[in-house]
Amino acid sequence: MKKFRFQLLHDWIVGHFKPCRVGDVGGGKGLISLLLNNDGFQSVVIDPYNQTLPSKYTGLEGARHKISDAITVPRITRAFEKEMAKDFDLLLGLHAHGSNMKIIEAAAEYKINFILLPCCVIDEPIVPQTNIDWFDSLEQYANALGIKTERFELNFRGQNTGFYSVGGENTVRGVKKK
Ligand SMILES: C[S@@+](CC[C@H](N)C(=O)[O-])C[C@H]1O[C@@H](n2cnc3c(N)ncnc32)[C@H](O)[C@@H]1O
Repeated sequence: MKKFRFQLLHDWIVGHFKPCRVGDVGGGKGLISLLLNNDGFQSVVIDPYNQTLPSKYTGLEGARHKISDAITVPRITRAFEKEMAKDFDLLLGLHAHGSNMKIIEAAAEYKINFILLPCCVIDEPIVPQTNIDWFDSLEQYANALGIKTERFELNFRGQNTGFYSVGGENTVRGVKKK
């Protein structure tokens, strides 16, 4: 299922968040932004390395979809900085190594939501310790900044668990702003 991670995460986001402005931090080629934008979201890839969309992808229903050369997603070709969060309602970090802590801090500061599927601690501004689990400590970091979180898991191979901020106007279940 590894190749379906964008499709699975897109499906999960549509079920948990209303269409809103998404900052797809470390978004790579931008497939998840494309899928979200096809569903009424306004998603922008924030990634210092300019990459082009794949030419095709397979949907969860099994159908093959071609992506024409003329189709693009908006991109900010710069490293993610906290201040960028002011233009978004939701920050997404799918295996966005080096940006996870910054995403949490930005979400806390600008009172917006985030979704993180962390992979590794590489390039984060902390020193890893052998007896401390990176995923747990990251979630606790968000909680310590006053953000309530929930965990979720997607059906693909690899780093398939994540957590997200609960509440806020753009969540499907949200009723009030944090
Ligand atoms: C492991 S890849 C994940 C890409 C994509 N989200 C995926 O799941 O396939 C990490 C991405 O983060 C980008 N990146 C590295 N440093 C970054 C930074 N400071 N701010 C934003 N993106 C960064 C890289 O260019 C790369 O595309």
